Amino acid sequence: MLPVFTALRSSVGKKILMAMTAFSLVLFVVVHLLGNLKLLSRNSNAFNIYAHKMMSLGGLLYVAEIGLLLLFLTHIIIAGLIFIGKRNARPVGYYMNKRLCKPGYNFIGSTTMIYTGAMILIFLVVHLMHFKFGPGIKDGYIKEVDGKSVRDLHRLVVEGFQSFWYVSFYTAVISLLGIHLSHGFWSAFQSLGINHPRYTPLILGVGILIAITLSLGFISLPVLLYFIG
Ligand code: HEM
Repeated sequence: MLPVFTALRSSVGKKILMAMTAFSLVLFVVVHLLGNLKLLSRNSNAFNIYAHKMMSLGGLLYVAEIGLLLLFLTHIIIAGLIFIGKRNARPVGYYMNKRLCKPGYNFIGSTTMIYTGAMILIFLVVHLMHFKFGPGIKDGYIKEVDGKSVRDLHRLVVEGFQSFWYVSFYTAVISLLGIHLSHGFWSAFQSLGINHPRYTPLILGVGILIAITLSLGFISLPVLLYFIG
């Protein structure tokens, strides 16, 4: 049997897979944000040049995209399995006294993971339908890069973020992504058994810092493009 399916059968295996996919997805989100920041460049073609470079990777890009899809699917399926498993094991849930939680414990993040995750999934469908599989060259979104006609992704993004409702939707969901990451980063370390009184508060702090930096970075794009066009 494939190692992934073997891991899925044990709760420890599920936790390890959850943590590994979480770290890989955080890495993707960091790289995605760094690429997207090209949208704010003075050169209005900078983002298209970047996207064209990525497209030039050819087969390698397809392998990366399939890998990314598998990461998302594994993460989502295991999250669902863990959620259902916990509910079946204890339908009423534990009584949680907030004051009994350790100082700095991320109560909101930890109790809303499945809901923030579900919202991010809905966001991803809308996001991909619009930017990845939305209007292209045949719809007039064309720009020249290195003498070649490429899809004008910069115009597509800028036009999308002229809508107040779209900007609000992005801002709201990316804030939820921040809440999800603020607990998820710490939780992934716990799942791998990395738990030490000295390092755990540090990991919690770093997770919250990463979550705030990434969400502010992503939110800056729709907000700035809405106001500066
Ligand atoms: C302001 C925020 C964002 C902007 C402007 C943005 C922009 C884009 C664009 C233009 C694409 C299409 C790339 C292409 O077709 O070559 C894309 C793809 C994608 N985005 Fe975003 N994105 C944002 C936020 C996010 C967030 C927060 C996530 C994840 C939680 C995300 C996940 C993805 C994924 C999975 C893809 C498909 C993979 C790829 O082609 O790179 N995006 N994004």
